[in-house]
Amino acid sequence: MALRTPLTRAVRRATSTATATPALSASSAQWRRGNATVAPVTQSTGPKKGTAMVFMNMGGPSTTDEVGSFLSMLFADADLIPLGRLQNYIGPLIARRRTPKIQKQYAEIGGGSPIRKWSEHQAAEMCKLLDQTSPETAPHKPYVAFRYANPLTEDTYKQLLADGFGGGNGGRAVAFTQYPQYSCSTTGSSLNELWKWRTRLEGKRGSGEVEPKGAINWSVIDRWPAHSGLVEAFAELIEQKLATYPAERRDNVILLFSAHSLPMSVVNRGDTYPAEVAATVYAVMQRLGMKYKYRLVWQSQVGPQPWLGAQTSDTVKNLMKKGQTDMLLIPIAFTSDHIETLYELDKEVIGEDAEGHEGVKRVDSLNGSPTFIKALADLAAAHLKSGEACSPQMILRCPGCTSERCLAQKEFFARQSGQDKEEAAAA
Ligand code: FES
Repeated sequence: MALRTPLTRAVRRATSTATATPALSASSAQWRRGNATVAPVTQSTGPKKGTAMVFMNMGGPSTTDEVGSFLSMLFADADLIPLGRLQNYIGPLIARRRTPKIQKQYAEIGGGSPIRKWSEHQAAEMCKLLDQTSPETAPHKPYVAFRYANPLTEDTYKQLLADGFGGGNGGRAVAFTQYPQYSCSTTGSSLNELWKWRTRLEGKRGSGEVEPKGAINWSVIDRWPAHSGLVEAFAELIEQKLATYPAERRDNVILLFSAHSLPMSVVNRGDTYPAEVAATVYAVMQRLGMKYKYRLVWQSQVGPQPWLGAQTSDTVKNLMKKGQTDMLLIPIAFTSDHIETLYELDKEVIGEDAEGHEGVKRVDSLNGSPTFIKALADLAAAHLKSGEACSPQMILRCPGCTSERCLAQKEFFARQSGQDKEEAAAA
């Protein structure tokens, strides 16, 4: 209770009004020093138990049979697709209507999404590197927790308990978002889900004010849009693809950085995603010496509501009409291939909108890039050493947020540092 009261006041102060923003954003160093909400996490896990590294992402159906349940969970998620009070009625209807069409799309890309394969590979390879670079927190154990597909967050949490983390045994886990740019629709939704299952499986129901002894101590890597290793991995893949154009055409290729769009209702609520995606794009362009014309464009809009544009598809069609036929599509907000790259970009945008023109190409996704996997390991090692529970930015809610779930989730993750200190002091 003693921990919760000042924390609650601090988080509410930090998140309830837009007027709080300038004071908090003035200096993250000052924020860290001057505010207890993101105090360092004490390293309580020894070499025996190690550290669970949990990769969070949306996931995708591994087979066409899983498409129905995937879509039904996706459209039920008000954090991702806000449908108002009728969400539980409209969501399943939309999911059912879209299932046959989306099943066909998955059939065309090989019968399922490769996101699980890549996520498991990236997590496992990262942990091998981390065991060398961060021996004090080793062994590092890789887990994947998806929001809408297997392995679901609930199942992964149960696996953590079965493996001896939490449930009275204590231990440390890092929730590592695989969305480099934070959105309340993506990382926020995954954290809400993680907090929900943590409360159900380990915590007290209701307010959760008193932390149970021996629960998992969580910290979060919540955003990394301009991490130098991520930027380098993107830049390498772009340079590889640019090298496939004849030298005399290369300087005139337009780079189209394509990210998943957001409903304007989410953007206008103050979501940080558009600014963070732009930060990635700008950092990659700086690494490329600002040598090319480029645009940030947005894909995957669904439904009749206004979404953030310009749309990738419209942009390619318009440039083609103007005679610009050398364009390089760069998936800038995904860390591996999934339907948005393999179907939407490759088959719809390049195959249909650009009519398969040889000058319109896509940069390979990060997938198994060794540079990318090293970046993940560097990022994770720095996080483990820093002892931060989460970034200062994660504590600040969107100016237009009215969700009590967001508030409770943020309070929980920020409180993790205090919980761990209390346990260490009692030990
Ligand atoms: Fe962004 Fe709640 S919607 S913090």
